Amino acid sequence: LPVSLIGVPTDIGAGHRGASMGPEALRVAGLTAALIDRGLDVIDRGNLSGPVNPWQPPYDGYRHLPEVIAWNRAVMLAVAAELKLQRMPIMLGGDHCLAIGSITAVAQHCRDIGKRLVVVWLDAHADFNTSAITPSGNIHGMPVACLFGHGPDALTRLGGSTPVLSTDQLRQVGIRSVDAGEKRLVKEVGLDIYDMRYIDEIGVKRSMEEVLSGLDKNTHLHLSFDVDFLDPAIAPGVGTTVPGGPNYREAQLVMEMIADTGLLGSLDIVELNPAFDVHNQTAALAVDLVESLFGKSTLMRE
Ligand code: ARG
Ligand code: MN
Ligand code: MN
Ligand code: MN
Repeated sequence: LPVSLIGVPTDIGAGHRGASMGPEALRVAGLTAALIDRGLDVIDRGNLSGPVNPWQPPYDGYRHLPEVIAWNRAVMLAVAAELKLQRMPIMLGGDHCLAIGSITAVAQHCRDIGKRLVVVWLDAHADFNTSAITPSGNIHGMPVACLFGHGPDALTRLGGSTPVLSTDQLRQVGIRSVDAGEKRLVKEVGLDIYDMRYIDEIGVKRSMEEVLSGLDKNTHLHLSFDVDFLDPAIAPGVGTTVPGGPNYREAQLVMEMIADTGLLGSLDIVELNPAFDVHNQTAALAVDLVESLFGKSTLMRE
């Protein structure tokens, strides 16, 4: 599948400034060349534009809600356009609120062409807060809740219908930070969460076999890759680090096993924050992992 890079330079949903520099950091780290090396047809569409970050406190439980809505409309339209051209959209984020727009467009596309959508969500966080329970008001902590229909109409109904996702369509991996109210909601909804405790006990290989079970040729796999999924020791360049994440080898295996399905249809790379990075090392790591996600391996595999 040919791929299209879509820069989404926003930190509108985050609690720290700087994720807006993520798209350029990924380009500087050589993302385009790495994908071309994988034999892919790559077009870099450049960056979407949207409102600047007004850096205001939360209002009614949401920080920057109108701006988040505007960015997500732009993301949804851009992703829909690529899917229509039969190209794989790759979001270069930007904070994780953009997944509302990208996944809404992907879900719509899957409905139109009769494919089953499964979302794999790599993250330290569940991102299942609502305005009533959020400790921060930051909307990057809310995209999953919005996709499940919990949130303001403008975000839950970005593409018209809601909910966009049901529990059988989402698998979260690497989770190790869930806020108190969020914990209750996640349990109530019955999210399929492979938290770090689970991964520590049964290992990455068996965890990922379970995460990727039940997929078939008619499945569109969307990967939402929050870079804070990774252990901060290897990935300091994010705004919300949480200790105890996957190390380099574990993360590579996760990507390789997703690649092996051959079902990847769309991708978000989010929360990379160059303001916290050291010599762009987290961006370079993200590019390394994306190479594996697109099938790079040490030896020829069958
Ligand atoms: N749970 C915290 C909050 O809601 C942090 C969310 C972090 N999300 C992210 N996409 N990095 O404020
Ligand atoms: Mn996160
Ligand atoms: Mn996230
Ligand atoms: Mn490399």
